Amino acid sequence: MTDPKVLPPEQRPRHVAIIMDGNGRWAEAQGLPRIFGHRSGIRSVRSVVEEGCRIGLEQMTLYCFSSENWKRPNRELRFLFRLLRHFLIVERSELMEQNVRLAMIGRREGLPPDVLDEFDRTAAMTASNTGMTLCLAVNYGARAEIAEAARRIARDAAAGRLDPEQIDEAAFSGYLATAGMPDPDLLIRTAGELRLSNYLLWQISYAELYITEVLWPDFRAEHLQRAVLDYARRQRKFGGLPGRAPAPEPTPIG
Ligand code: IPE
Ligand code: IPE
Ligand code: MG
Repeated sequence: MTDPKVLPPEQRPRHVAIIMDGNGRWAEAQGLPRIFGHRSGIRSVRSVVEEGCRIGLEQMTLYCFSSENWKRPNRELRFLFRLLRHFLIVERSELMEQNVRLAMIGRREGLPPDVLDEFDRTAAMTASNTGMTLCLAVNYGARAEIAEAARRIARDAAAGRLDPEQIDEAAFSGYLATAGMPDPDLLIRTAGELRLSNYLLWQISYAELYITEVLWPDFRAEHLQRAVLDYARRQRKFGGLPGRAPAPEPTPIG
């Protein structure tokens, strides 16, 4: 297998977004409670972050907790937030060593203050790192993000700070939680579901999709490599024609 690191830069994704799914199924398959799957999923996170850095990704955005995940039992919610807090504390030195910058998207309201504290501490500590950005989507929902952007745009327009005629795609992007980040080139979903589950709907408009049956706790560096190599073989056309030099202007009829 080719090492994705040696791919020419134009064949390598800058930004990989991942829907880390299948923790519950992984645990249940072994007769364990669902939370064991979440706990094991941490090893996968460690592995893909390390590999993302090695390959030279600019950004990796991991879906950790959706705004819809509040529907889960309290016990599972408490465990998930304890795990996230633990991750932020334990991985801090590793992130520093790997020159990773930590970022977060999602609503802060509703998240446990001790999780936010640890997040802020790690984000501040890694703020001047220059390697890969690791963005955690926590309490994130794309529709809520888009509605929030619309609300802020309306506020700015009503206050005379923004001319409605100047609201184009780039301006709109600047109001999203991902302002200043590149759009994902590659979206990976583990555990086989063929849906987006309210993830980065605006930003993945032209992302390449890669869905694997592998459950998140089994996903490792080699699986990320496989996904990136698959991406490298895709022909991204963005509505144009594949790999053609622009043809001369046709002579108009008549
Ligand atoms: C993904 O695994 C983790 C979160 C959504 C927090 P799931 O917990 O959704 O696992 P399945 O889909 O039930 O197997
Ligand atoms: C998406 O997984 C959210 C995260 C991975 C955090 P879900 O397991 O919540 O998605 P659905 O319920 O299958 O759509
Ligand atoms: Mg799931």
